[in-house]
Amino acid sequence: MERLIIQGGRPLEGEIRISGAKNSALPILAAALLADGASRIDRIPHLQDITTTMELLGQMGVGLTVDEHMNIEVDPRDIRECYAPYELVKTMRASILVLGPLLARYGQADVSLPGGCAIGIRPVNLHVDGLRQMGANIEVENGYIRARCKRLRGARLVMDLVSVTGTENLMMAATLAKGTTVIENAAREPEVVDLADCLNRMGARVSGAGTDTLVIEGVEKLNGVQYNVLPDRIETGTYLVAVAMAGGRVKLKDTRPELLEAVLLKLEEAGAQVSTGEDWIELGMSRERPRAVKVWTAPYPGFPTDMQAQFCALNAVASGVGMVTETVFENRFMHILEMQRMGADVRLEGRTAISTGVAQLTGAPVMATDLRASASLVLAGLVASGETLVHRIYHIDRGYECIEEKLAQLGANIRRLPR
Ligand code: EPZ
Repeated sequence: MERLIIQGGRPLEGEIRISGAKNSALPILAAALLADGASRIDRIPHLQDITTTMELLGQMGVGLTVDEHMNIEVDPRDIRECYAPYELVKTMRASILVLGPLLARYGQADVSLPGGCAIGIRPVNLHVDGLRQMGANIEVENGYIRARCKRLRGARLVMDLVSVTGTENLMMAATLAKGTTVIENAAREPEVVDLADCLNRMGARVSGAGTDTLVIEGVEKLNGVQYNVLPDRIETGTYLVAVAMAGGRVKLKDTRPELLEAVLLKLEEAGAQVSTGEDWIELGMSRERPRAVKVWTAPYPGFPTDMQAQFCALNAVASGVGMVTETVFENRFMHILEMQRMGADVRLEGRTAISTGVAQLTGAPVMATDLRASASLVLAGLVASGETLVHRIYHIDRGYECIEEKLAQLGANIRRLPR
């Protein structure tokens, strides 16, 4: 199994480019299934989850062409089957995003139930209930969602919980439904807005994106589109926390500061100097330790749960007592156990991690358990004394493009050990 080996203790200096957002590219690639023609999606990050999505679409008979810049042409006109098998869905839960588009465009979809994952049970009841309210006949049997419907009809949907992919699936399904759909308590994440913008470029009629009420007027057909996905706000935030922990000064290019305001405010609270431009963010941190902060995760525009683990790492080496409360997922603190092995003084009380920062963590062999937890262990390794070996880094490769290359470019002593 590949591992990352990190020698901690170096400040970070320089500039890196931010990649396209994984959580925008995934729904937008699924949305291409809705079109009567080919689409070209640009600025796709080179990640395992994208590869998995291309395998999934390719297995259905969807035409895929990728150029050297990871711009992907998706042509659904020769699709053979509307089927997402367990073998693929178990490796990437976001495969559920093909359910709405397949049902809306082809009247059928057989999609494996995504299992839970390390961070929680993660049911998809909101996706299924919403489609049923839109007239779909859905049986859940033998681990599969079997959905059939000649044509979905518009409905008024009130989401019990704010769900990002639940909102995305139902919004995509509603674009080709007969009549108007209203989605109340919709997710407001930038990736939801990016998807809505892409759908409207395809000829859909989505309004209210970015608010908690979406209104989608169904249309007869959608056209292929050329679309650039937005920058990855979580990759951006992860590198900013790295500098806030390790010290130094770094400029992140090809990003958008307005996508992560809650994170920037917390970094300034921690003592970082943050300056921004239209498509860049620069963060400086003198060598003293960051100040501990208090964080509560919440749906956008609140503090993102996908930045929670990274701030646990920051608090582990900060001066003072920090608290991080996870309100979105029920089991998203596995990184705490690994950080304790590196000498972090942190304990869990219910859904809150309380830490008293230490001046120095010690390097250790650690194990990644989920995408963002693994990134937080890399951050801890950057500031720990001695060597840190991060195992199971396939979690990292799902969401971070060339993480060791980008960090090495900033002066970190990090490299990937072959299998
Ligand atoms: C999306 O997951 C992201 N993934 C996650 O990013 C992110 O952590 C999450 O949103 C929250 O922001 C993608 O966009 C591909 P939810 P999603 O539905 O949509 C419960 C990463 O690190 N729920 O918003 O699956 C659920 O259990 C990943 O890139 C139901 O109960 O999350 C959770 O407690 C990790 N029933 C809460 O809602 C449902 O039908 C929010 O989940 C759906 C969700």
